Amino acid sequence: MLKIAPAPVRVAPLADLLAALEAAGEETRLRLLALLAEAELTVSELVAILGQSQPRVSRHLKLLVEAGLVDRHREGAWAFFRLAERTPLAAVARAALDALDPADQTIVADRARLAETRAARAEQAARYFAAHAGDWASLRRMHAPDERVEAALADVVGAGPFHAALDLGTGSGRMLELFAPQAGRAVGVDQSPAMLAVARAALERAGLRHAQLRQGDLYALPVEREGYDLVILHQVLHYLDDPARALREAARALRPGGRLVVVDFAPHDHEALRTQHAHRRLGFADAEIAGAMAEAGLEPAPRRDVAPDKGEHAKLTVSIWLGRDRRIVADSPSAPRQEVA
Ligand SMILES: C[S@@+](CC[C@H](N)C(=O)[O-])C[C@H]1O[C@@H](n2cnc3c(N)ncnc32)[C@H](O)[C@@H]1O
Repeated sequence: MLKIAPAPVRVAPLADLLAALEAAGEETRLRLLALLAEAELTVSELVAILGQSQPRVSRHLKLLVEAGLVDRHREGAWAFFRLAERTPLAAVARAALDALDPADQTIVADRARLAETRAARAEQAARYFAAHAGDWASLRRMHAPDERVEAALADVVGAGPFHAALDLGTGSGRMLELFAPQAGRAVGVDQSPAMLAVARAALERAGLRHAQLRQGDLYALPVEREGYDLVILHQVLHYLDDPARALREAARALRPGGRLVVVDFAPHDHEALRTQHAHRRLGFADAEIAGAMAEAGLEPAPRRDVAPDKGEHAKLTVSIWLGRDRRIVADSPSAPRQEVA
């Protein structure tokens, strides 16, 4: 049976609609909505972009959240804001932004400062990865042991064979080492030349000559659409400023019926991973990843957790999510493939 997610509710009570229109109908708040439509941002980033005081920006954000136009989620010492996607009033914000001239000088200037903020952050992360390219494997030992994570991952993904596998943020190349032997074609993408050098050496050591590496950005993948039956995001999402967008882009690389596997941390409170290891997010709740997968057109399977050992170093639970592209009729192996709009 083909499963289709229920359509979101698109109507709101009069009082809620009025509150939403009032919230959107002010210059700074409209500018905030335009920025939050582009990226998930913290208050301090928004303060830097808008050039207004923190209390002022916080007050406007509070109004937008209360009106159901913006989602806020707190994570350790940081709070993230993004345009609401699942409230009935989200359409109000989208409609206002659709009507806004993208060439408006104020909006253009805001977007330019947003690009600067993101570039500075990407630069900071790239410096981190360049500095740690050689010792990345040892940093991974802080988490639930690799052997157990990899065994659980192999169990979730299955033995293959795979037509084509795509490893996003390939870093050490470890996922290609694991899955490329069962794949007709295997491609790893990473933005960091230093990490790609580490991955290249790992692939050469393993004799995986059919695996290719490409330098590129996860938000604009340098690979063909609908080309892969297995796409992997292993310990990458917590570095990104827009994980949902990365998931959408990853889902576009899937063939009908293909699977996206995400491996990342369960929610935790180790701020040091932010201050010392360039993490942006302190793990992910199940609802966030499963929800983003559903919005990307995937059918999420139940999450699998791998708890850390009881040692002094390993502190973090690793979660594994799997989402299947829905463009397939699932109850009959002989049934024809069917596209879902
Ligand atoms: C934790 S590391 C490597 C994880 C790797 N999947 C593994 O299992 O070893 C995360 C990788 O994501 C890459 N990365 C971060 N942001 C990226 C982006 N926007 N586009 C492409 N690669 C990115 C980094 O360069 C880094 O190599």
